[in-house]
Amino acid sequence: MRIDIVSIFPEFFGVLDISLMGKARRQGLLDVAVHDLRDFTHDRHRTVDDTPYGGGAGMVMRPEPWGEALDHVFGDAATPENTTMIVPSPAGTPFTQAVARELALEPHLVFTCGRYEGIDQRVVDHAASRVTVREISLGDYVLNGGEVAVTAMIEAIGRLVPGVVGNPASLSEESHEDGLLEYPSYTKPATWRGLDVPPVLLGGNHGAISAWRHEQQIERTRRVRPDLLD
Ligand code: ADE
Repeated sequence: MRIDIVSIFPEFFGVLDISLMGKARRQGLLDVAVHDLRDFTHDRHRTVDDTPYGGGAGMVMRPEPWGEALDHVFGDAATPENTTMIVPSPAGTPFTQAVARELALEPHLVFTCGRYEGIDQRVVDHAASRVTVREISLGDYVLNGGEVAVTAMIEAIGRLVPGVVGNPASLSEESHEDGLLEYPSYTKPATWRGLDVPPVLLGGNHGAISAWRHEQQIERTRRVRPDLLD
């Protein structure tokens, strides 16, 4: 999978060099390129923002550097079938495990990190005439810009790309994969600070263990996230 990120803080994405994402990049499973939006400006101050038409608080990102940056990362061959642009925004549709699974099947993802009050809407509208565009929100709260949201999305999507997580079985047993939260996990020692591991897990009866884990999933989901059971 190819991933392009456009941001005014390219150094932010150094985190994608470490742990599982870094390993996947070195193995060639994820081909990630980060682009500095300011490289596509032409003035001495490398300006990327301006005041909003119609007035109001804050600054809006100007369309020209975004247009040039996206021309560069899309190339001539981009189509709605082979390229998806993701615009992180608190005004987008919610990011879920199902969305991550869909996006993990795409050959080329382009992430646009907005700052300030957002990007001139024409950038998104013009891109939508060339590629598939999805505005996606990480949750119902406001971040200072798209960088943190994009990092979270890339980690959630990247680990679903075949080969990135060594043991694929560990993916299917996680929270949200079957619509329920994950069951609690335990390891040695069997007793720690007076707390015992649930005896069923020590008995070796796999049917009983599966049944207990499923009950735990339902109980935890009902208690913490009853909305998921509707
Ligand atoms: N940018 C700012 N807030 C955001 C959010 N909640 N989700 C995605 N991108 C954002």
